[in-house]
Amino acid sequence: MSQNSPDLSHIAKARPLLSQDEKKQLSEHLKQNGLLVENWLDKKLASLEANTKSQLLSAMRYSLLNGGKRVRASLILETARLFEIKDDITLPLAAAIECMHAYSLIHDDLPAMDDDDIRRGKPTNHIAFDEATAILAGDGLQSLAFEIIAEHAALPDHNKVKIIQKLAYSSGISGMCEGQMLDMEGYHDNEKNLESIHHIQSLKTGALFSFCLYAGGVLGNANKDQHIDLQLYADKIGFLFQVQDDILDHTSTADILGKTAGKDAEQNKQTAISVLGLAEAQILASQLYSDAIQACEKLPNEGDMLSHIAQYILCRDH
Ligand code: IPE
Ligand code: IPE
Ligand code: MG
Ligand code: MG
Ligand code: MG
Repeated sequence: MSQNSPDLSHIAKARPLLSQDEKKQLSEHLKQNGLLVENWLDKKLASLEANTKSQLLSAMRYSLLNGGKRVRASLILETARLFEIKDDITLPLAAAIECMHAYSLIHDDLPAMDDDDIRRGKPTNHIAFDEATAILAGDGLQSLAFEIIAEHAALPDHNKVKIIQKLAYSSGISGMCEGQMLDMEGYHDNEKNLESIHHIQSLKTGALFSFCLYAGGVLGNANKDQHIDLQLYADKIGFLFQVQDDILDHTSTADILGKTAGKDAEQNKQTAISVLGLAEAQILASQLYSDAIQACEKLPNEGDMLSHIAQYILCRDH
């Protein structure tokens, strides 16, 4: 077992783990989801070209369509599919969350924030362009996320408002931005404990996951109990996703990650590693995975792909 592959033997398994073949099929399936959303985004960006004269759209395209696992897009697609909603209804929302996520990454990498040079194996936006352009590309992508949802003709207005409100809530002061601020302020915080890590990570990373499960549930007309289960699952995988990100930052290499490794310790960040150490962080990840699987149990088809995605998040290597 490599240093960062979790030991799953102690997990009380609600469901058997995927075989190697099933894992390959899952990655192919997620790749296809990614292609669907990338094609949709490619067309949307192309439709904006005639109105722009600056380099802004190129900078937005650079960070939006440059790889990425498209986990958030897959979560919306798969949640809606659980309720038999057709992809053409879901794709604009999957595209919107990838715009919001790409904006968060561009700003996360800025010199004033994590000061990173590599993202998805390529120079970060402010290196490929310049800092002003990167800030504006992030701003442009954030607005584009809302524009895409507002323009979604097949979405009834009452659902549109709910989804736009949740996206605002998840990305701003009640979600991602507050989490990012706490992450930055945490530099000099001596109060290191699991609760504060959960708080920071649920906001900076988990909130966008929460949006995905909510939006998919709204499209599928999920009932109250199903929304509760979807949000419980989102809470578990959102935290799991960031715990795994912290583990990989500590154990992996830039070649595999496509972004700088060892950055968290260098910048004295509060992470699952700094608080728990590697072994306990891995146990926490396994526990969060089990909890996520449990949260899926009462969903249609026992959550189907959602439970597989939880395993993908736990076992991912980048
Ligand atoms: C990276 O997110 C930022 C975190 C919240 C840890 P991803 O690991 O989903 O990044 P991409 O989209 O695949 O590049
Ligand atoms: C980033 O967390 C979270 C957001 C972008 C909102 P990190 O700073 O750990 O993400 P990476 O490691 O740079 O991708
Ligand atoms: Mg950061
Ligand atoms: Mg970062
Ligand atoms: Mg990280």
